[in-house]
Amino acid sequence: MSRNILVTAALPYANGPIHIGHLVEYVQADIWVRYQKLTGNDCKYICADDAHGTPIMLSARKRGIDPQQLIDEMHASHSADFRDFFVEFDIFHSTHSEENRICASKIYNRLKDGGYIARKAVAQAYDEQAKMFLPDRFVKGVCPKCESPDQYGDACEVCGATYAPLDLINPRSVLTGTKPVVRKSEHLFIELAKFETFLQSWVKDHVQPEVANKLEEWFEAGLRDWDISREAPYWGFQIPGETDKFFYVWLDAPIGYMGSHWRWCKDHGREDEFEAAWKPDSDIELVQFLGKDIAYFHTLFWPAVLHGSGHRTPTQVYCHGFLTVDGRKMSKSRGTFIAARTWLEHLDPQALRYYLASKLASGVDDIDLSLDDFVFRVNSDLVGKVVNIASRCAGILRKRYGNRLSAALDDTEMYAEFAAARTEVGERFEAREYAKAIRAITALADRTNKYIDTKAPWALCKAEDTFEEGHRVCTQGLNLFRVLITMLSPVVPKLAEDSFALLQSPLSWDGLDTPLLDAEIQKFKPLMLRVDKAHVAAVVEASKPAEPPPAPEPAAPAYAPVADTISFDEFMKVDLRVATVVEAEIIEKANKLLRLTVDLGFETRQVIAGIRKAYNPEHLIGKQVVVVANLAPRKMKFGVSEGMVIAAGPGAPDIFLLGVDNGALNGMRIK
Ligand code: 2FM
Ligand code: ZN
Repeated sequence: MSRNILVTAALPYANGPIHIGHLVEYVQADIWVRYQKLTGNDCKYICADDAHGTPIMLSARKRGIDPQQLIDEMHASHSADFRDFFVEFDIFHSTHSEENRICASKIYNRLKDGGYIARKAVAQAYDEQAKMFLPDRFVKGVCPKCESPDQYGDACEVCGATYAPLDLINPRSVLTGTKPVVRKSEHLFIELAKFETFLQSWVKDHVQPEVANKLEEWFEAGLRDWDISREAPYWGFQIPGETDKFFYVWLDAPIGYMGSHWRWCKDHGREDEFEAAWKPDSDIELVQFLGKDIAYFHTLFWPAVLHGSGHRTPTQVYCHGFLTVDGRKMSKSRGTFIAARTWLEHLDPQALRYYLASKLASGVDDIDLSLDDFVFRVNSDLVGKVVNIASRCAGILRKRYGNRLSAALDDTEMYAEFAAARTEVGERFEAREYAKAIRAITALADRTNKYIDTKAPWALCKAEDTFEEGHRVCTQGLNLFRVLITMLSPVVPKLAEDSFALLQSPLSWDGLDTPLLDAEIQKFKPLMLRVDKAHVAAVVEASKPAEPPPAPEPAAPAYAPVADTISFDEFMKVDLRVATVVEAEIIEKANKLLRLTVDLGFETRQVIAGIRKAYNPEHLIGKQVVVVANLAPRKMKFGVSEGMVIAAGPGAPDIFLLGVDNGALNGMRIK
């Protein structure tokens, strides 16, 4: 019996282009959906732009346009990228839609009626100049733990500490550069702990084991109330019954799956299916693909929101890992943060789909796009093994046999074996073990090429007594190709479409039971080109940031003027060493100075440094700093300073020690 399945992929934010990291998921889910459709299931692939939130509001403001205009532009750009990568949604809607507003309001009202909503005062950073509350990442300052400068208000990227924005030393609004103040407002919360028993049982059958383990940790840490409201100004849906309160973007984003499905149902006159799909005991499957970074939202908040509002919960939540390129995080400076459009300008989208499939498994491990391996795999396996079968056989069929398949196969058993292999390959697709599916298909392509090599149809077709056999061998080869390309069609849909145009036969999973015989085929045209390494290099080059334009002359000097030049010999006299701060103390009566004891490896020194306004002495202990080791001792009011620590910055409190992180460098000379 055929299944009815709704498949979703996470909704991309409408404030930036699609990149290859995103594509892992959209391609992974697209392959799964295409496989389901190919095997006769009623499957719909639902997605939308995630169109709300502060970053979108501010991006629009920065460009002087309405947020609606920004999200419309992004919607057009995302739609084109998906279309060109053959990611075929049944609907690609928006969370900023009437359907979603109605769904979100209804869900909220039901949660409220069910007693799951609490009101609490929240103290938050507020920018008095911009007149708005600041999300954590809109506040920056010095990390209160390790004192690294320029850290966001939620967590330090250097030491990993998490904190509240106003715990930062010298916090600043990224919007205006002003110091935020603390302001209280009333927020609405979903009381997540009320769903704990339900969630504990739900996770057992609906998430991957790795995710279930992670959830176990979250349960142990305790489920905290989830803040779902934001104060005006905010780009989102107004909360019913409230003034100047909006749904936090992460409340209405997953509801966007539902809103988008509703829109699809309306567009197709199937409103009954909408009701059937979201009722608690629905037999329509809801299968959700997403990145492991947003598992928390989809495996705790989302099922709780659905359950608490009287809806069904997801059948399966499938998380995937991140994409690395050449073993490293995607990076703008290395040119590996590749936009979908940049790829499309130089390379075949199907080559990426094929390579991703050849790496994807059902777990949450990261997958690596190794650029050399990518070129090798696509050229050797997809073009060199699979596509080559068609070009070898179709060429001879055209030259010698009037482009017509013979009435019989050369090896019926072999064909039946190939056609039967689709059961196993299909199981791999179903289980999201695409790498295994690709390996099985490649092994069959190897067998086909070996078969053709052994039979040598190019020779058979030349002698009268083997002429018919040659015809059957080419027909066999093309029929085996038909099996392989049918199995590969969820991965490389355009190649499949062109191949079936060549064979003048429809793509059909079940149709493989019967070989294609005694039929005309089209004149062969190359189906897929090899990947050229130079095009990969061009993608990387095009993805690197443009050289910054020459800085305009500052109206007033931003930096102190450079001092008179010194000769190289003079410079070489300066002995710079790495030292560790072993003691640091405040000097009473000196409000700018700290007394440091620094260990140079071969001796310790006392250095009096004017950094009290920038650093808390406790935080300096253990830090590695650069010291001018041969500066003549200077007698100062509060003692002798036996060197100088190097620091930079416009002045207190913005002074930053020039430090290094490697404890093994003590005493080392710098130059
Ligand atoms: O992390 C993200 O990119 C979010 N825009 C995903 C939202 S998925 C769903 F909840 F809408
Ligand atoms: Zn830190």
